[in-house]
Amino acid sequence: MLTDTKNTTTDPAIEITNFAVKDDQLPEFRDMKFEDINQLALDHPGASDEEYRTRRDHIASLAKDFRETGKITDVEYTDEEQGVWRYVASKLEELQQKYASPFYLGAKSDLGFSNDRIPQLSEMNRRLKELTGFRLAPIEGLVETRGFLSWLSYRVMLSTQYIRHHSHPEYTPEPDIVHEAIGHIPMFTNPNFADYSQLVGHGARIATDQQLEELGRLYWFTVEFGLVEHEGDIKAYGAGLLSSFGELENAFSPNVERRPFNLEQVINTEYNYADMQPILYVIPSYAELKEVTRKYIESF
Ligand SMILES: [Fe+2]
Repeated sequence: MLTDTKNTTTDPAIEITNFAVKDDQLPEFRDMKFEDINQLALDHPGASDEEYRTRRDHIASLAKDFRETGKITDVEYTDEEQGVWRYVASKLEELQQKYASPFYLGAKSDLGFSNDRIPQLSEMNRRLKELTGFRLAPIEGLVETRGFLSWLSYRVMLSTQYIRHHSHPEYTPEPDIVHEAIGHIPMFTNPNFADYSQLVGHGARIATDQQLEELGRLYWFTVEFGLVEHEGDIKAYGAGLLSSFGELENAFSPNVERRPFNLEQVINTEYNYADMQPILYVIPSYAELKEVTRKYIESF
């Protein structure tokens, strides 16, 4: 257990290097507790497409099987689904060359990402295990904040596997494999970012409801919409930016106020997930993000 490995003899109190989670230290996936999992809202582009709904149900059943067996079943993506990926992945890559953090771009190539083929969670896991010990676990939809963030304390990210509806390849109202794989997965190969994610997860497990709300904002303005300094320039590392044409361009436009990262301010800043983001925060480095967050979580 995490708390058992906490090193109380040295400062800082939460020693993230002691947080490595071995396979046999993971909770049983079948014990995952969620208040609810949101699947396919009525205003979703695929809501009235019977074939798409059936497909989503099938992929959801694989995530449910995973919780029973702990084994990930690869999804056999259809030609249509691969076509959506090819279109979105190659278009996003063009924009990313200009705006994405260099670490992210390098990680994508290290992970063997291809614009031609949807990556499987199982293959990404093999590589993540070697690099930072992070893991992806299939989930069929959006999970409530505490349930989702708490799994990060075990270096596990819950990840959807379905892909957005082909009628709107540039848009998804919910996380899909494009958002997870292109947005999130590469950053988990960064040791400081992986530790940071785990600290947020640890915080979520012990947070009051008020603190959980603050953690949700911290997650939003970093993991989803974070910017980072790079050699006098500003680059994107947040998944919500890297996986969205609109948000990525908007982030670097005059419409957005790009503020230096200030944890106190971030945890008190409201956001609206349905609008383009008007305020973003720029971290100096992933290492500093980790350190200020460690101090913050220690205060819980
Ligand atoms: Fe996300």
